[in-house]
Amino acid sequence: MAYLLDKKLSAVFEVLLRIAIALIPLSHFAAFAFANSTTSLVSAAAAGDVGKEWKEAEALLNWRASLDNQSQTLLSSWGEGSPCKWVGIRCDKAGSLTGLNLSSFGLIGTLSNLSFSSFPHLLAIDLSWNSLYGNIPDQIGNISKLTLLNLAHNDLSETITSSIGRLSRLSYLDFSSNQLSGRIPSEIGLLRALLSLALDTNSLTGSIPTSIGNLGNLYELDLYDNKLSGSIPTTIGNLTKLINLKLMVNKLSGSIPPEINNLTNLRNLVLGSNEFTGHLSQYICHAGSLVHFSISDNHFTGPIPKGLKNCTTLTRIRLDGNQLVGNITEDFSIYPSLIYMDLSYNNLYGELSSKWGQCQNLTSLKVSNNKISGNIPPELSGATQLVELDLSSNHLMGKIPKELRRLKSLITLLLSDNQISGKIPSEIGMLSRMKNLNLAGNNLSGLIPKELGDCSNLLFLNMSRNILEGSIFSEIGRLNSLENLDLSMNALIGKIPPQLGDLPRLEILNISHNNLSGSIPSTFPDISSLTSIDISYNDLEGPIPNIKAFRDAPNEAFQNNKGLCGNVTGLKACPQMIHNPLHRNYVIIILVPLLGTLFVVFITFQVSHKCSQRVMKIENKLTSTQNDDLFAIWSFDGKMVYENIIEATEEFSSKYCIGLGGYGSVYKVELPTSQVVAVKKLHSLPNGETSNQKAFISEIHALTKIRHRNIVKLYGFCAHPRHSLLVYEFLEGGSLLQLLNNEERAKAFEWIKRVNVIKGVANALAYMHHDCSTPIIHRDISSKNVLLDIEYEAHISDFGIARLLKPDSSNWTTLAGTYGYMAPELAYTMEINTKCDVYSFGVLTLEIIMGKHPGDLILSLSPSTTFTTHNMPLNDLLDKRLSLPTNQVASDLLHIASIAIACLHTSAQSRPTMQQVSQEISTQKARLVKPLQMIKLGEVVTV
Ligand SMILES: *[C@@H]1O[C@H](CO)[C@@H](O)[C@H](O)[C@H]1NC(C)=O
Ligand SMILES: *[C@@H]1O[C@H](CO)[C@@H](O)[C@H](O)[C@H]1NC(C)=O
Ligand SMILES: *[C@@H]1O[C@H](CO)[C@@H](O)[C@H](O)[C@H]1NC(C)=O
Ligand SMILES: *[C@@H]1O[C@H](CO)[C@@H](O)[C@H](O)[C@H]1NC(C)=O
Ligand SMILES: *[C@@H]1O[C@H](CO)[C@@H](O)[C@H](O)[C@H]1NC(C)=O
Repeated sequence: MAYLLDKKLSAVFEVLLRIAIALIPLSHFAAFAFANSTTSLVSAAAAGDVGKEWKEAEALLNWRASLDNQSQTLLSSWGEGSPCKWVGIRCDKAGSLTGLNLSSFGLIGTLSNLSFSSFPHLLAIDLSWNSLYGNIPDQIGNISKLTLLNLAHNDLSETITSSIGRLSRLSYLDFSSNQLSGRIPSEIGLLRALLSLALDTNSLTGSIPTSIGNLGNLYELDLYDNKLSGSIPTTIGNLTKLINLKLMVNKLSGSIPPEINNLTNLRNLVLGSNEFTGHLSQYICHAGSLVHFSISDNHFTGPIPKGLKNCTTLTRIRLDGNQLVGNITEDFSIYPSLIYMDLSYNNLYGELSSKWGQCQNLTSLKVSNNKISGNIPPELSGATQLVELDLSSNHLMGKIPKELRRLKSLITLLLSDNQISGKIPSEIGMLSRMKNLNLAGNNLSGLIPKELGDCSNLLFLNMSRNILEGSIFSEIGRLNSLENLDLSMNALIGKIPPQLGDLPRLEILNISHNNLSGSIPSTFPDISSLTSIDISYNDLEGPIPNIKAFRDAPNEAFQNNKGLCGNVTGLKACPQMIHNPLHRNYVIIILVPLLGTLFVVFITFQVSHKCSQRVMKIENKLTSTQNDDLFAIWSFDGKMVYENIIEATEEFSSKYCIGLGGYGSVYKVELPTSQVVAVKKLHSLPNGETSNQKAFISEIHALTKIRHRNIVKLYGFCAHPRHSLLVYEFLEGGSLLQLLNNEERAKAFEWIKRVNVIKGVANALAYMHHDCSTPIIHRDISSKNVLLDIEYEAHISDFGIARLLKPDSSNWTTLAGTYGYMAPELAYTMEINTKCDVYSFGVLTLEIIMGKHPGDLILSLSPSTTFTTHNMPLNDLLDKRLSLPTNQVASDLLHIASIAIACLHTSAQSRPTMQQVSQEISTQKARLVKPLQMIKLGEVVTV
């Protein structure tokens, strides 16, 4: 959130800056403004200076000729008529070239053939977001009137030319997101007119030149994400107009010079992920304008600065990951604007102040991994905007205050590994938005409150390592979203409630180390999502369910029970499965016929009962079908297909079910024409009103028109009171998730195929976001929703369906998407836009590279990165089941990883668009300069 705000501010700032540049005395400056103003495009020929125009035109055409073929086509308008009318060119009234703006043109080539000396009147160059490579030529220093130079987001390399120091009128210099290396030339200090300097996201080394102190007009200094070392020069204190100072993700060391306190206009001071040491200045924020203060992941010691105490302008504080010490009981006051506060991973002690409860805008409070003691103050519940409260791994005692029920926005509550005791308050059930609840490793006793069943959005529930008693509450069956349940190491008794088998999304279940008895309920085969179970150390008996999670579980998952049986190694086979006649004994000889007879009677009853039910159901359905015109399938004879589907699936028998998607079950259906299709039976339709349904159907109709090689074809749709069906193209390869989870198949899924899958997904998303009449947002990009054909070509499924089934609403419960793929801003706002898909794409891409979901690694890839992850060798990321990639594939993967990481930016605005992503991904990269094993993760992280 704060990041979003910061970004908005800096966007506003940039606009202001551009206006400021445009207002600089010379009147003709206005002409280069990059808005599409054509007012001043007086033809140069009319102005009469033919010789000059010819020279500039020739220089431009020479450059174009040096670019690759595709780029030349993009600039095909060049060459006809006056250069002042060519795309990307601005002239002044005299017909001199003043502006060159080819941002985001997809140009591939170098700058070495652009004869800068031919454009003496040039005021502004914007070639950002292209694929320009090679160095920045020395000649650039000849454009002495230049005020704006933006080469950001290219592949420029080598050192920054010292001739840059001759551009004495430059106000705006942006070389960010390139591959520039070497030192920042000290000549940069000659650019005294500079207002904004961005060299971030490169590979610059050496120290920050002391001459930077001469840039007394600077508002913005971005040097983050480089390899800068040494300490911050004391001359930084001369930059008294500085508003933004961002130096995070470098190797800067030493202590922060006290001169930084001279920067009284500073709003954003971001120094995270460096190697700074020493104490923090006590006077931070003495001028009272600091908004964002982050020093996370450094080696700062000593106390929290007193200056922060009354700094009421703050919206975001990050002090996490240092060695700060001291008693924090009275270190903080009330911050009316504070949104984000992280003090985790320090050596802080004392108690939590009740004042936090008066921070009316606080959405995140994280104090984990310190030595905080005392009780959780009930007053904390006054911070009603809290979305995330992490107090884990401290020495907190006392009870969980029931007042926490007031935190209605809470999504994450982490209280694990403290010494909290007493009962879990039933009021916790009122936190209905909660998705992530961790109370593990405390001394909680009594029953699990059944009200927890009201937290219907829970995805992750961990209450392990407590002394909880009683049985597992049957209301657990209402936690329809639950993916991960850990109740291990408690004193739970009784039977496993059959409702546990109704949880449609449960993936991980750990109920080990309790006193549970009886057999495993027969409902368990219904949990097809289950991937990991642990039921060891209980008193369970009887057969284990014949589902994959149980069949594939290691021995340890079953050990120390009373008498489990089943067809897995380590367990004895269940009695009725013994077929070997040699082992028969009398009991079995008697029992088998007896049980057999009972069984036959039972089955006969069941079958006849089911059949009659089925006949009745089908009859009901057919009659209601005839009375119902809300029924549509395109490209087929609708009614016939509907009936064929019901027939072919024996009315959706589970034996035809091939998967469970977010919105329903998927069946493989062979139509009488022997065409095979995938049919998705939806759980629900948008609520009843016909007008809604009309809109719904017309939008689905639009989706059936989409044809893209990387998007699963939607053939049609049936709306029916009983079943709503989507009919899709059937793909043999199954989902990407299944592929990555299968050792054998994952090994055959080589790097080159993975790169192609990533490209395919990127193309499909770019198409949906940018090439459709209205952008279509997927909202639920995950490895479950990417299907593969036999050639490993990716096909995205469920496009646009998410939005149709969960239409916009301020209601949190309608949040679409899969946990672990959802953009972080969705935790705070419901503003769904294409950038949410971009984020999910980033997660998916890492998942393909790593062979598994990146999990917590995502957090450490954000600007907050801990040093350890930054130093992690890149090849540790790669799926170990494949051998290391080499040559072109290696450099492609590296490039893709860095793009994926850019997609994971916490600020949605800073993420690239899918168009940029797909363009970037398809440009071939130069070979790696060093072996993959030597590349550190930090080198590909962009901030
Ligand atoms: C342009 O710059 C280069 C290198 O900095 C220099 O050698 C050359 O003389 C300059 N040309 C003009 C026309 O100023
Ligand atoms: C910059 O700061 C240094 C030391 O802090 C000082 O000696 C110098 O005079 C300052 N320069 C300007 C231009 O203000
Ligand atoms: C921390 O400070 C508070 C109030 O200033 C005091 O009551 C408490 O005893 C201190 N705690 C420790 C562990 O020193
Ligand atoms: C945990 O709670 C029990 C009773 O509820 C108590 O006897 C025990 O001392 C507590 N243990 C700790 C470490 O607080
Ligand atoms: C289940 O929980 C126990 C105790 O908390 C733990 O030791 C075990 O590793 C867990 N099982 C799995 C499969 O994670």
